[in-house]
Amino acid sequence: MDVIESLHSRSDDTTPVPRHVAIIMDGNGRWAKARRLPRIAGHKQGVEAVRRVSKAAREQGVEVLTLYAFSSENWRRPEEEVRDLMGLLRHFLKNELKDLVAENVRLRVIGDYRALSGDLVAMIDDAIAKTSVNTGATLVIALNYGAQAEIVAAARRLASAAQAGEITADAIDEAMFSDALTTHGLPPLDLLIRTSGEQRLSNFLLWQAAYAELLFVDTLWPDFDAAALADALAQFGRRQRRFGGL
Ligand code: FPP
Repeated sequence: MDVIESLHSRSDDTTPVPRHVAIIMDGNGRWAKARRLPRIAGHKQGVEAVRRVSKAAREQGVEVLTLYAFSSENWRRPEEEVRDLMGLLRHFLKNELKDLVAENVRLRVIGDYRALSGDLVAMIDDAIAKTSVNTGATLVIALNYGAQAEIVAAARRLASAAQAGEITADAIDEAMFSDALTTHGLPPLDLLIRTSGEQRLSNFLLWQAAYAELLFVDTLWPDFDAAALADALAQFGRRQRRFGGL
């Protein structure tokens, strides 16, 4: 280890393992295309990666893993692909629930998931309810999520509270605003990973990413595994987080 590196790891600000990791799971389509397979085959492998990586994250000590499964912009995809993604989600919820319960994992969903079909909404509500007493890690799935809409909804909620005289406008600060977001109560986002070489946030956790470390990796999401996560966490451990200080 060189001098700079050892100084970094001795800094009090350095979190050895990020408490909260978020992933923009990108590259399913390209994974399939490279194999001359339909896009759905890439998404299926993407679900396998979700299983593998969420288990690995727990084993590697991550408290909260937030996954971008369906953005509010993803409705623009062909109808058939949207239907396939919803089918995979249905399958995932059905199969994964008992493991989440057995492994003491709490499930949370962010985004306007109530706009999904009725049976999915019921399955999601059931999974959230059945895992709400769990005390281990938290798996957060972003469904029909868009960060700008989340921020606008928080602003509206606070404006209504102010209008109703429940709070004063002056009382609104960063902490109150954070509490009005769908991620309220979760630890601050430490590390945001995007797979497949794209370097954009794509309307994901814009407020929450304020001080997060960003990591863009070339691996396509279906190929992401425990070793890739361990590598990402190691890279995080080597970053010097200053939070605006020196
Ligand atoms: C991006 O790949 C991936 C998505 C839009 C969906 C992510 C969904 C999954 C991994 C499966 C469903 C998740 C759960 C939790 C059941 P892309 O299609 O944009 O890939 P491309 O950029 O290579 O075309």
